[in-house]
Amino acid sequence: MIFVTLITCALAATASADCPLTFLKNATTSLVASQSKGTYSSLNALAETTVYTEQFQAVDIRVGILSKALKIDFNRSIHDPVLCTTFTEMIITDPSHPYVIGTRMELDGSKITKMETLVTDEGDWLFNATGYAYYNSLETWDPIPESERDTREVIKAAGDAYFDRFANANASVPWGTPCARLEGGAYTDSRNTSTNTCDLGLPSTIHVTDRRYVVDVEMGAVGIYVGFPGLDRADPNPSPDSHLFRVEEGKLRYIHTLSTCEGHPGCGLNETFVPGTRRVASPRLI
Ligand SMILES: *[C@@H]1O[C@H](CO)[C@@H](O)[C@H](O)[C@H]1NC(C)=O
Ligand SMILES: *[C@@H]1O[C@H](CO)[C@@H](O)[C@H](O)[C@H]1NC(C)=O
Ligand SMILES: *[C@@H]1O[C@H](CO)[C@@H](O)[C@H](O)[C@H]1NC(C)=O
Ligand SMILES: *[C@@H]1O[C@H](CO)[C@@H](O)[C@H](O)[C@H]1NC(C)=O
Ligand SMILES: *[C@@H]1O[C@H](CO)[C@@H](O)[C@H](O)[C@H]1NC(C)=O
Ligand SMILES: *[C@@H]1O[C@H](CO)[C@@H](O)[C@H](O)[C@H]1NC(C)=O
Repeated sequence: MIFVTLITCALAATASADCPLTFLKNATTSLVASQSKGTYSSLNALAETTVYTEQFQAVDIRVGILSKALKIDFNRSIHDPVLCTTFTEMIITDPSHPYVIGTRMELDGSKITKMETLVTDEGDWLFNATGYAYYNSLETWDPIPESERDTREVIKAAGDAYFDRFANANASVPWGTPCARLEGGAYTDSRNTSTNTCDLGLPSTIHVTDRRYVVDVEMGAVGIYVGFPGLDRADPNPSPDSHLFRVEEGKLRYIHTLSTCEGHPGCGLNETFVPGTRRVASPRLI
C-alpha cells in the first residue's frame, strides 16, 4: 500500500514537473494566435506525431479549421499541469461564418501529443455564436482568490456528478444558486436573475462515455470531453461533446457546452425546441 502510494506520488510529481503552467499557457496562447492567422505551422509544440481530430474524427491538420484565418472575438483557456492537458474556447461571431470552437490538448514535456477540436457552427446543438458571445460576456470567470480555491478533487467531482446524474436519478449534483448553463448559444439565465438554477431536470438513463479531463484549480474549472448518447436524435452513436464547468465553493456556477451533430442539422430536432426554460421542456434536455 505504501509502495503504491509512493509510486503514485512520484508519477504525479513527474507529470507536474514536466508540465509547468508556463509551458501549457505558451501552447494555448500559440493555439489562439495560430487560429487567428490560419497557420497550423505557427503552433508551438506541434509535432509530426501530434494526433489531430475534429468532431472526434481523425483529420489532416493541414486542411482542418486551423488553416482558416478567423477573427476571434473571445478566447478562454484552462490548464492542467498534473494531467498535462489544456482546453480552449474560441468565439467567432463573424457573420460570414460564425463558429464556436473548443480545443482540448494533451501534451508531454515538450510537445502536443493530441489535439481534439470541436468545430461548432450552424446546425450544431443550439448553435448561436452571437448568443454564446453575449451570454459569456455577462459571466465572471476571474481566477479564484487563493484562499477560496477548491481542490482539484472537488472541482473534478462536481463535473463528474453532473454526468453521473444522467445515468442515475439519485446521483447528487452540487448545484450552485445562481447557476447558468450556456449550450451552443442558448442560456438558462437569459433573464439574469440571481436566483437561477441549472437544476432543470435531467434524464436518468444516459451513460456518457469516455470522459477526458482538464482540471484548473486557479480558474475553478474542469473541462470534460465525452461521448454523449442521445444528444443527436438522428444518430444512435454518442455525439462529440465538451462541457466546461466553473465551480465556486464546491458548487456548479457556470456550464458551457459544445456539441456537434454532423450531417443532422439541429441534431435531428426541429426549430420549435426551446431549451433552458425552468419547465422541463424535454426529458432529454441536455
Ligand atoms: C485571447 O484573449 C486574451 C484575453 O484573455 C487577449 O488578450 C488576446 O488578445 C486574445 N487572443 C486573440 C488572438 O484574440
Ligand atoms: C513558447 O514556445 C516557443 C517554442 O517552443 C518558444 O520559442 C518561446 O520562447 C516560448 N515562449 C514562452 C513565453 O515560453
Ligand atoms: C442568438 O442570440 C442573440 C443574442 O442573444 C439573439 O439576439 C438572437 O436572436 C439569437 N438568434 C437565434 C437564431 O436564436
Ligand atoms: C433511487 O432511490 C430510490 C429511493 O430510495 C430507489 O427506489 C431507487 O432504486 C434508486 N435508483 C437508483 C438508480 O439507484
Ligand atoms: C445581470 O445582473 C448583474 C447582477 O445583478 C448586474 O450587475 C448586471 O449588470 C446584469 N446584466 C444585465 C445584462 O442585465
Ligand atoms: C420535424 O418536422 C417535420 C415537418 O413538420 C416532420 O416531418 C419531422 O418528423 C420532424 N422531425 C422531428 C425529429 O421531430
